[in-house]
Amino acid sequence: MKKINIAIDGPAGAGKSTIAKLVAKKLDAIYLDTGAMYRAVALKAIRQGMDTKDREGISLLISKLDIKIRHIGSEQHILLDDEDVSKEIRTPEVSIGASNVAAIPEVRIKMVEIQREIAATTSVVMDGRDIGTFVLPGADLKIFLTASIEERAARRHKEMIEKGITHVSLEEVQKDIVFRDRNDSSRDFAPLSKAEDAVEMDTTKMTLDQVVEKIISLVG
Ligand code: CDP
Repeated sequence: MKKINIAIDGPAGAGKSTIAKLVAKKLDAIYLDTGAMYRAVALKAIRQGMDTKDREGISLLISKLDIKIRHIGSEQHILLDDEDVSKEIRTPEVSIGASNVAAIPEVRIKMVEIQREIAATTSVVMDGRDIGTFVLPGADLKIFLTASIEERAARRHKEMIEKGITHVSLEEVQKDIVFRDRNDSSRDFAPLSKAEDAVEMDTTKMTLDQVVEKIISLVG
């Protein structure tokens, strides 16, 4: 089968990861969660007591960083210095840190290099903020997923509770999302934005199956 690259971008909680995973499964492609990579950088910085906005410090950290992506079944695992940190990167503190380190060009350049390498050899459904605009401008299909802020916060909150993270209120989740929406859209280097040739889908009132079906129909 021909190699295919699909880019799914959009703000936090729009359903990118759940949908990208399902689409990847249907197409026999791998799912690459690029957000997890920025989260891993943030986790390392936080563990070292660093400020996640410290460009110089983080750039140095990046030069010695060991991040590996592994797929176990349809699940992506992320290894930081050979430690599986897939769970540890899901806290609100790491979310904010990820958004901060993601604004640092040196970080993005390194992450994008890894992402492009994977896409060059494998069929991949990649989700993130800049996949259609910057990482894979020649992707076969680009989707931009959105949903109302209330819906996105509710989805993310439910997902966290299902994962056993019960100490974060819905209000805090919404505040985190509002902060990251602003931070991710306003940075200079590869901000969150819809590619001109991306298909925009507002998923507020759509079921998962409807979104997945629509994307598969667009693949053709
Ligand atoms: O899953 P969620 O939408 O909450 O976030 P994520 O995809 O795990 O991404 C975490 C943070 O990493 C985002 O808020 C962005 O700042 C950053 N990110 C990015 O800048 N570019 C990407 N391709 C993916 C994530």
